[in-house]
Amino acid sequence: MHSRQRRRFLSVGSGLAAGLLGISTGAKAAPLARSPGLPVSAYGQRARYETSQRWLTPARYLASTASWSPLADQLGIITPSALHYERHHGGVPDIEPGAFSLLVHGLVQRPLEFTLEDLKRFPVTERICMLECSGNSYREWQGPGGVDVQQTHGLTSCSAWSGVRLADVLAECGVMAEAQWLVAEGGDAARLTRSVPLAKALDDTLLVYGQNGEALRPEQGYPLRLLVPGYEGSISVKWLSRLKLSDEAIYSREETSKYTDLMPDGRAQAFTLAMDAKSVITSPSPGRGPLLPGFQEIRGLAWSGRGRVTRVEVSTDGGQHWQDAQLHGPVLPVCHTRFSLPWRFDGQPCVLASRCTDETGDVQPSRAALVAARGVNSFYHYNAIQHWRVDADGSVHNV
Ligand code: CO
Repeated sequence: MHSRQRRRFLSVGSGLAAGLLGISTGAKAAPLARSPGLPVSAYGQRARYETSQRWLTPARYLASTASWSPLADQLGIITPSALHYERHHGGVPDIEPGAFSLLVHGLVQRPLEFTLEDLKRFPVTERICMLECSGNSYREWQGPGGVDVQQTHGLTSCSAWSGVRLADVLAECGVMAEAQWLVAEGGDAARLTRSVPLAKALDDTLLVYGQNGEALRPEQGYPLRLLVPGYEGSISVKWLSRLKLSDEAIYSREETSKYTDLMPDGRAQAFTLAMDAKSVITSPSPGRGPLLPGFQEIRGLAWSGRGRVTRVEVSTDGGQHWQDAQLHGPVLPVCHTRFSLPWRFDGQPCVLASRCTDETGDVQPSRAALVAARGVNSFYHYNAIQHWRVDADGSVHNV
């Protein structure tokens, strides 16, 4: 613990030095196993007492399905693959890796079709990277909507990805000078199609086949997906089947009628791709049981699609005063970043909030500032400061 943080911790707990956390001293030995337990297993499972799970959006039809990560339960910055959020538009296809191929064509000197084994021969690269659906927090546009942090912010997750650089694969095909866009098509029933600016495709875009040390999960695009770091999640096309180099964007359904932002004047902004600076307090947060008086560590996650998080401030009075939270390493670009601040809940009602700043100087806006700039016609790209009200009884609410 840093000495500065330790002093803060002690000052928070002053007068309570021993018994700061009110932990009972009526010690009783935990039971030890008296007989042999289970043998080794071929593929591990979590403890049967652990019940954290994705929250499933009530689906009116298959194309509207999504599942949300339980951010308040997550430890560290990596989301377990089994709890990574999902959004798909035609269900999860079952693609046999031996039958998989990726076609690269259009404005290239050599159109090529790659098998998975072909792609794995390119130099391997790894990157820890978050993904966020641009529809994350969509309910909040109309006022407080989600009942807990899973519902308000759970369409973001962070994984360690393994794959190859798209630039290397495109170099093998020879990109023509006229090419400006890369059109990516998924092999799912929806044939989800998105246009990626070629500069981004050649910069840090990856073709990934690995997630958190093993093959991608089917719901994350098995056997191959695009990973476009920092851009809205839907452009990281899953179950990737085709890449076409083009001199213009394709204006697919997912970049015209969907994934555009309707402004107050009735016009829509298209290709709003980078995800803005954002943060949320995961503890305390609604639906976690009443807060006990005394020491509480305020904990949360911050992220930005534009680079590293450089600062997170926390307010306990609804945004009138702010204190710098401690950032926990590693602090990586386009990744979930942990923050914390020691605090004491004295039983007085209060409003907690966090505000993220990234390395480009992008500062998470207040709801009033966001609505002033964008109106309330939008569905996507809501990144306003989130407020949690703590009542005298310790209950926490989205306000
Ligand atoms: Co957008």
